[in-house]
Amino acid sequence: MSATRDLKKVGVREIAALKQAGQAIVMVTAYDTPMARLADQVGIDMLLVGDSLGMTVLGYPTTLPVTLEDCLRHTAAVVRGTQRAMVIADMPFLTCRISPEQALRNCGRVMQETGADGVKLEGGESMAPTIARLVQCGIPVLGHIGILPQQVKAMGGYRVQGRTPEQAERLRCDALALQAAGAFAIVLEGVPLELGRELTDMLDIPTIGIGAGPHCDGQVQVLHDLLGLTEDFHPRHAKRYTDLADAIRTALSAYRDEVRQHVFPGKEHSFS
Ligand code: KIV
Repeated sequence: MSATRDLKKVGVREIAALKQAGQAIVMVTAYDTPMARLADQVGIDMLLVGDSLGMTVLGYPTTLPVTLEDCLRHTAAVVRGTQRAMVIADMPFLTCRISPEQALRNCGRVMQETGADGVKLEGGESMAPTIARLVQCGIPVLGHIGILPQQVKAMGGYRVQGRTPEQAERLRCDALALQAAGAFAIVLEGVPLELGRELTDMLDIPTIGIGAGPHCDGQVQVLHDLLGLTEDFHPRHAKRYTDLADAIRTALSAYRDEVRQHVFPGKEHSFS
């Protein structure tokens, strides 16, 4: 097992301190108790109950069908598996867009009913008043700019953002607006690495990149991509650290064969 940081529960102050100390923030998605427990045991700093849940676990083609109820159930499961990591619930499509008061009601439910340590909201400057309202009420908010998967239909796909001067300027304004609204950190998804560096240097709060290059203050990845469980989708930004799909197929094939051949269960797995 790789080195863990100290066992103190991670919160907004610890995340800010990591940027100050120049130490990388490590974040990964989690959707259930056993995986959260494993990630927590190896000292991952932040667990994101991403709405990528829709694709990784629920079998949807996008994140759009994920509901507030899905978010509540899976976030509570992740919290139950976690002692140290900061747990962030990703607010699903349209649960925070209608008004700041709607966002407050929904994020309030997530915080109270799951034990999450904060929420993540997709969107730039237009979400700043909502973020300010949540922060004012004591809800830590992680911003998210760049590729916004909840806007996939409006954007016409998952396209790298910030390649043109206009888009880059838009992202600078978005990042500054979220910081001014009180977000404690910002996820940068799918932006050129030079812009990832510039935004990271420009902001006082940490940036957490996914497809935003190595200069961000931290990195977040989708657990199923790291573990080799998303076989039909290989985003360029993801690195596969193991091939769990193959390991699972091998184990299940062995089980299938042993049952068919009456090898399992043996005496050691039976009661007299
Ligand atoms: O839902 C998710 O997993 C995310 C990450 C890609 C940042 O939003």
